[in-house]
Amino acid sequence: MSTQVILPRIMQVGEDAILQIPNILVSLGCNRPLIITDKMMVALGYAGRIQMSLGAQNISAPIFDDTVPEPTVESIQAGVEKAQKGNYDCIIALGGGSPIDSAKAIAILAKHGGVMQDYRFPRMVMEQGLPVIAVPTTAGTGSEVTRFTIITDETTDEKMLCVGIGFMPVAALVDYKLTISLPPRITADTGIDALTHAIEAYVSKKANPYSDSQAIAAMKLIGPNLRKAYHNGEDQRAREAMMLGSTLAGVAFSNASVALVHGMSRPIGAFFHVPHGLSNAMLLPSVTAYSMPAAAERYADCARAMGITTAQDSNEIANQKLLIELRALNDELAVPTPEQFGIKRDEFFDVCQTMAEQALASGSPANNPIEPSISDMVAIYQGLWD
Ligand SMILES: [Fe+2]
Repeated sequence: MSTQVILPRIMQVGEDAILQIPNILVSLGCNRPLIITDKMMVALGYAGRIQMSLGAQNISAPIFDDTVPEPTVESIQAGVEKAQKGNYDCIIALGGGSPIDSAKAIAILAKHGGVMQDYRFPRMVMEQGLPVIAVPTTAGTGSEVTRFTIITDETTDEKMLCVGIGFMPVAALVDYKLTISLPPRITADTGIDALTHAIEAYVSKKANPYSDSQAIAAMKLIGPNLRKAYHNGEDQRAREAMMLGSTLAGVAFSNASVALVHGMSRPIGAFFHVPHGLSNAMLLPSVTAYSMPAAAERYADCARAMGITTAQDSNEIANQKLLIELRALNDELAVPTPEQFGIKRDEFFDVCQTMAEQALASGSPANNPIEPSISDMVAIYQGLWD
């Protein structure tokens, strides 16, 4: 059996990769870019740096900076209109997961029309939109190397998963220097997201030898460096490891899949506006405990790759250490419980059934080592309050 692996055509990885953006455009035959980002990236000067390096080559790059966290159908509309009106030949997507996901959706809608609901899973989006050059500024989502985007349908509060080669950026510039100024909270949330991608890709029913190699490499980088980057954002080596680990984890899950954590996490994000990485972190220990009996060896490999158990430890011991580590990580990185986040218990319990149904519909739980029933998922949601 073979596996299809889909990747960007160009990956520029390492310190000051962002400075190579004019060369990347030349390689792609593009010279009319639109920068899609958010106001924070403009304020930090990153968008200006890209404009300046392109300006030196006489390339002007207008900015659309109205993307929002956890993008919605409504929030990307102005970007679609701007992209359609400007005769652009590529999009530079700059920021965390939300600007990059917004840009991917805008790139398809600007060229092919329709509404985002038309492109949701299980449809496979094979159309090529405007080429996207992704420049991540967090070490987490992996969106720069995935064939996915997530856009919320605000009429139903549903995070729509959209899948296909059409959402794969044509180039990814992976420059850890852009993450140095990230505050600890975002470092933690995005870092746990990346760890979750690697673990879920590795235990997924769609795991394959290629995605395994990327997932294990990602866990080896993330395991020893997440705490370091959280406690000392200036630690260059830790930031570099987290950035590369996050991208490799993105490659892993884009070419395998995510599983139950992500399936259950998206509805929490949509209903209660919990940032993506944080809702993953809330779920990761309990979903891992639930899933472990069906994939003990795989989870033991994760513990070994993360460096929290020895090669001599049995699978059983490695599994126990993994659960201890995931809980300890949440404690040390100050991950709140749903209650501490400010969610009302009654409101959460009222929508557990709906959240479980939405999780199932996303397709991700079907990739889990144990395929959960709706009532299993409701029990896991409720268990977050014990
Ligand atoms: Fe994620």
